[in-house]
Amino acid sequence: MTLDLFDKFDPILKDYNSLPDGAANPFTVSMEKVLSPTTAIINGRETILAGTNNYMGMTFNAECIAAAQEALSTQGTGTTGSRVLNGTYNSHKQLETTLKEFYGTDHAIVFSTGYQANLGVISTLAGPKDYVVIDADSHASIYDGCAMGNATVVRFKHNNPENLDKRLTRIRRDDPEAGILVVLEGVYSMLGDQAPLKELTRISKDHKAYVLVDEAHSIGVFGETGRGVAQEQGVEDQVDFIIGTFSKSVGTIGGYCVSNHPKFEALRLVCRPYIFTASLPPSVVASATKALELIASTNLRSKLLDNSRKLNKGLKSIGFTMGTTGESPIAAIIVDDQNTAIAFWGEMLKEGVYVNLALPPATPNRLNLMRCSLSAAHTFEQIDFMLEKFELVGKKLGLIQEVSARATA
Ligand SMILES: Cc1ncc(COP(=O)(O)O)c(C=O)c1O
Repeated sequence: MTLDLFDKFDPILKDYNSLPDGAANPFTVSMEKVLSPTTAIINGRETILAGTNNYMGMTFNAECIAAAQEALSTQGTGTTGSRVLNGTYNSHKQLETTLKEFYGTDHAIVFSTGYQANLGVISTLAGPKDYVVIDADSHASIYDGCAMGNATVVRFKHNNPENLDKRLTRIRRDDPEAGILVVLEGVYSMLGDQAPLKELTRISKDHKAYVLVDEAHSIGVFGETGRGVAQEQGVEDQVDFIIGTFSKSVGTIGGYCVSNHPKFEALRLVCRPYIFTASLPPSVVASATKALELIASTNLRSKLLDNSRKLNKGLKSIGFTMGTTGESPIAAIIVDDQNTAIAFWGEMLKEGVYVNLALPPATPNRLNLMRCSLSAAHTFEQIDFMLEKFELVGKKLGLIQEVSARATA
């Protein structure tokens, strides 16, 4: 008998089918109407969005919308072509110029998503004789970039400089001439922790390795002009490639890589996820360009981190076990078992707060997380509302004690 290609998915379908139906199913929820960067109608009720990665609230920025509308009506709905064929408009080049100015780099290449930027740059740069050294908690797009390429992949323990040193020492001992690409993230999205870039870049350079930093969750959020954690930690001159996305702080979609490497433009000729896909539509290009200009000059970064500190501090004082500290825009409650986490998510939605249910394998150390990502557009009143609902649901599910019990415990 011929095997059914779908049989291998039976275990995951079994788990999926055991989820609650309808409103409380995290995989089927949809936004009926998005009202603003922080609110939407979900299941017929107005809901606060506390898990969108819309860090700067750019999705409804009037200048970005106007730029997108203008591009839509003058240049059409899409390019219908690859960057290397008919899909490079002057506006794509302008966006790359804006990125070069934003980062102060010689080169910038725009991809259709951040996922494709990692896929393309990692798989293309590191060839069969090279090594890619990645943090164990890297995003799926980094792992997939490694899987697509032909380099030897070596992992080191999350944010652990000694372990990186050990791995690089061994590679250099075995192969003194090898090309090595160390891939790091500025902020790790699940627990919001920053990479210790000073130590990690120093060790990489000691071993003559190239350094790539994915600033997907840190562009716009950290650094004096929003360039990310490399800027914040003063190590931009030690980083060879910065990858980023337009799908979070920039409020639209797309990805990019910037670099000062003199041969960087060669990627346009050899990088398959750049070549074999259609380029970004003009409206997206226009809003991304405008958002980057705004991000460079915004004073919203401190408001965003104030919001995050308030939520993290509030959740901790209510009695939740936190995976985050409030030093990035992410707040994550650790929940011991998966079924409680799923119930928690559904109850929060019923109470009018949308958060991210983050489960293994997407999480580090197989944690079950109720993950929030704050926006500079959240008001303190909205955060108070979130806290009130978290407390209510946490008590209902027995995750936290009654206030009086806690006071005497
Ligand atoms: C660290 C990291 N890199 C890359 C990406 C992919 O970005 P995009 O949404 O633009 O594909 C993400 C998205 O979640 C991310 O968290």
